[in-house]
Amino acid sequence: MEKPKFKTVQEVVAAGEGLPERYLHAPTGDGEVQPLNAAVPEMDIPAIDLNLLLSSSEEGREELSKLHSALSTWGVVQVMNHGITEAFLDKIYKLTKEFFALPTEEKQKCAREIGSIQGYGNDMILWDDQVLDWIDRLYITTYPEDQRQLKFWPQVPTGFRETLHEYTMKQRIVIEQFFKAMARSLELEDNSFLDMYGESATMDTRFNMYPPCPRPDKVIGVKPHADGSAFTLLLPDKDVEGLQFQKDGKWYKAPIVPDTILINVGDQMEIMSNGIYKSPVHRVVTNREKERISVATFCIPGADKEIQPVDELVSEARPRLYKTVKKYVELYFKYYQQGRRPIEAALI
Ligand code: OGA
Ligand code: NI
Repeated sequence: MEKPKFKTVQEVVAAGEGLPERYLHAPTGDGEVQPLNAAVPEMDIPAIDLNLLLSSSEEGREELSKLHSALSTWGVVQVMNHGITEAFLDKIYKLTKEFFALPTEEKQKCAREIGSIQGYGNDMILWDDQVLDWIDRLYITTYPEDQRQLKFWPQVPTGFRETLHEYTMKQRIVIEQFFKAMARSLELEDNSFLDMYGESATMDTRFNMYPPCPRPDKVIGVKPHADGSAFTLLLPDKDVEGLQFQKDGKWYKAPIVPDTILINVGDQMEIMSNGIYKSPVHRVVTNREKERISVATFCIPGADKEIQPVDELVSEARPRLYKTVKKYVELYFKYYQQGRRPIEAALI
């Protein structure tokens, strides 16, 4: 059960009473001797041209093989030529900043209720000794339209609702194209993943705010986790770094590439691809001077859908790795706060 509400991080900062113990990570003692803010190398992931991926030209095939190589090693790509203009992306960044800059009372109009996910607030607290993430967020289910709960959609700043609706519709096109491209890159029928993802799939968009933090060496923005989605579209802050991905036990920072959308594989795509495409563990570190924002959209298969490795990717040489799962996201949240990986529960 969720514990009673705690202040948001912005409220903690505004109160000026110093840094509560609850945010401090003790050294783990299991070999991670580096402080959280230690310098890490940048990952070498490609920028992929979404338009080119679906063309049947020679360049298209090359792009598909770049996609295959990135998703089977890092599980992450930067996508360019995605059809969403720079001006539109800038509008989303601007509205996100404006929302979090509003007075607390105004933001509380969209407040999350205890025990539910949607709405504005701090990290969910499930245990008394849980170390808290240095993040405030606004979490909204944006699709399908009949599942929208408008009380969580801010009326201020002006244009927020309309822009989020428009962004949702634009993302839907990107999502469909990306699913098809992933299928092609694995020599499957275009709709192999889309059919499993289903007509009833949902989209959840999370607006994230990481205020400046006095102890980036001991406080984390988002604990290490992999996403429970099929995949996630992310607009990382354009100026402030913080997102890091893990590969072979080491951390690497995500590059900032203007006007691209960062797409990372989630657990459910890892399952559908029988482990060929990796759902990467990632985290967000904090920054002493600057606030950071990001906007993540989780593409979640329909609750009625059974998610399992597609038949064509199972063979004697590559036996089936995962069980069939359903409503994966529900089990996900519990594991996350315990720092465990839910996908382990799906392994055969
Ligand atoms: C997430 C996430 C990264 C970021 O919301 O799952 O990993 O850059 N966010 O905020
Ligand atoms: Ni994530």
